[in-house]
Amino acid sequence: MSGDLKWNKIFGAGLGTAFVILVVQQVSGAVYKTHEPEKMGYFVNAPEEAAGGAEEAVLPPDWGTVLPAADLAAGEAAFARCKACHTVNQGGADGIGPNLFGVVGGPVMHRAGFAYSDAMKAHKAEVPTWGYDELDHFITAPARYIAGTKMSFAGLRDTPTRINLIAYLRSQGSGGFAIPASDPTRQPGAAPAEGDAAAAEAPAEGAAAADATAPGAAPADPATTQAAPAAPPAATSPAPANH
Ligand code: HEC
Repeated sequence: MSGDLKWNKIFGAGLGTAFVILVVQQVSGAVYKTHEPEKMGYFVNAPEEAAGGAEEAVLPPDWGTVLPAADLAAGEAAFARCKACHTVNQGGADGIGPNLFGVVGGPVMHRAGFAYSDAMKAHKAEVPTWGYDELDHFITAPARYIAGTKMSFAGLRDTPTRINLIAYLRSQGSGGFAIPASDPTRQPGAAPAEGDAAAAEAPAEGAAAADATAPGAAPADPATTQAAPAAPPAATSPAPANH
């Protein structure tokens, strides 16, 4: 009798152990599964949701000030994010995306042989040139700036990284594209739109936000009133305005 009980206990313990092992396998399987998509995901798409839209509320970069100070080596490093689809060397081949040599200041769709999307064609009809602001908008969030673009890249939300990257792209065949004069209305302290996140979030409001920059900035700093006609915002505002 007692012998039977003993074996029951041992057998029961064995079953219990087997059960625990099964449970552990299931749980670790579940844990493993939740990690799978992360491994399969395209790293270039990672930053989008994480960064949110908060940075959009800040002023556009003052190219005349930031470009001469940009870090070309850091920009080249940032270009690693683009290399899956783009070359940038002179005479480089088109890949999933067009070769980018000379794209800064060049025409939109600057590679004759590349099959651009209809969205890019429509964009070119409205905004024919890749100026600094246009490139900056596009690289920040390609599909938001040009809805329907076939550049499937989530975007670079970090402004210093984009500045370095654009400076690097300029160094690849676009050195002749002038750097604009420093624009005081874009410098910190002239910023009126700090809390204007709502306006910046909607692409269609981009122009309104840009326009708001100039009048808001002028009273804030009387010394800049001469620059108040705000040629740069006026020149660039037609682009977002039609989107
Ligand atoms: C997943 C592939 C892919 C990645 C990654 C990518 N691009 Fe693109 N890019 C494209 C495609 C495709 C187009 C053409 C878009 C269209 O026709 O709508 C394009 C177009 C462009 C254009 C316009 C070129 C022209 O001739 O008008 C620029 C500028 C550009 N990309 C810059 C970049 C930069 C800078 C990066 C890295 C931060 C990058 N791209 C990352 C695929 C990519």
